Amino acid sequence: MEETAKIILDGKTYEFPVITGTENEKAIDITQLRAETSYITLDNGFANTGSCTSSITFLDGEKGVLRYRGIPIEQIAEKSTFVETSYLLIYGKLPTQDQLKKFAQSFTKHAPLHDDMLNFFNGYPKDGHPMGLLSAMVCSLSGYYPDLLKPELTDEEFESTAAQLLSKVRTISAYTYKKSIGQPMVPPREDLRYIANFLNMMFTTPQKEYEITNEVIQALEALLILHADHEQNCSTSTVRLVGSSWANMFASVSAGVSALWGPLHGGANQKVVEMLEDIQEAGGDIQKFLNKAKDPNDNYRLMGFGHRVYKNFDPRAKIIKKRASDLFNKLGVNDPLLEIAVKLEEAVLKDDYFAQRKLYPNVDFYSGIIYKAIGIPTVMFPVLFAIGRMPGWIAHWKEMKENPKSRIGRPRQVYVGPNERNYIPIDQR
Ligand code: CMC
Repeated sequence: MEETAKIILDGKTYEFPVITGTENEKAIDITQLRAETSYITLDNGFANTGSCTSSITFLDGEKGVLRYRGIPIEQIAEKSTFVETSYLLIYGKLPTQDQLKKFAQSFTKHAPLHDDMLNFFNGYPKDGHPMGLLSAMVCSLSGYYPDLLKPELTDEEFESTAAQLLSKVRTISAYTYKKSIGQPMVPPREDLRYIANFLNMMFTTPQKEYEITNEVIQALEALLILHADHEQNCSTSTVRLVGSSWANMFASVSAGVSALWGPLHGGANQKVVEMLEDIQEAGGDIQKFLNKAKDPNDNYRLMGFGHRVYKNFDPRAKIIKKRASDLFNKLGVNDPLLEIAVKLEEAVLKDDYFAQRKLYPNVDFYSGIIYKAIGIPTVMFPVLFAIGRMPGWIAHWKEMKENPKSRIGRPRQVYVGPNERNYIPIDQR
């Protein structure tokens, strides 16, 4: 018998279907709630609301499980590459060698920016935040590809748009950095693979070609993979919401970049390192910062701790912490911020305030320290998150478009403003 949930309103019982996911996740399907009862649900921050069904990523916050298309993140981070992971997320299966080759080749083809776009960099203030420029530039790509803006794309058009985004986000990011430090832009190279190409565009100077090492590539590869998707987070939900109006993929993803920028989301990695530097400047007084974060009259938060879904541990943080110490050993980096981070984590894990609220280190806690060791400036950290999240945004946009049940996203509200009242002319107020 089909499972149902009963809701009693004004003495009348209504039944709604219960949906069960492949991992036995349960949901009450309230699609007909308002039509049948005239009630809506209220769910601040959508903490209990499923906005869609999805077969891309599974996560279990209590058990610390994260899987892309069914494959545990630990295996993917250990064995895959970011390009292969992108294919897996977008197309739902691991590619054959031929498919992967073709996919990677399309990145090479789409890496350069249209010459006219280079002028944008000159018009942007040197110290403007790179996420602002990235969001604007991603949306501006729409101007150069008018054929890719229609609501229904052919498979070939979709592939081309996805490749443009995945590939050009690197070029835009690296050019933004070069512009901010007053160095000439380094064009993408056809002979370099995805991450090596990005590092070369970022760090080669007129005086010196950047020396690409396996250690750095492996660390960045793992970080991008770990950021590649995280089901219905704030920026991905934004991409889906914007796309649900049939806005094109460039516009939808650009909105995702803006949503990611916030310090409670992808901007947290930048804020973590700034917080660790503040602690360092304060002579390493960790307790002072803990007290501030616990003070109910202070909005201050310990950046890199807590998660809406993970209530035990963030599996991505576990992998990153290990990668950070491996990388530091290999590169011989001795960053005092790492020591502060370790001490802060220990102090937080012992503290009742954080234990009661189930606040553990999240993916952003250690990622910034790795970016810093690689030489990426703090202000660019959220940009790295955006490069990593690109395949997830694209996969969700595609899934949303292909689901015949998708409708324009349009939440309701409970109005609590004034009742009807008359307009009063300005001279009588
Ligand atoms: N430091 C201090 N207190 C915290 C923190 C923190 N980092 N995070 C949550 N709390 C407290 C919060 O004040 C509240 O306390 P009380 O119950 O006394 O009012 C309680 O814990 C629950 O917080 P919430 O804001 O209702 O939790 P949420 O699920 O809405 O927010 C979060 C999740 C990640 C936005 C939040 O934990 C946070 O602001 N963390 C710091 C920013 C951060 O590291 N963000 C990166 C998240 S991981 C990357 C990504 O996927 O975006």
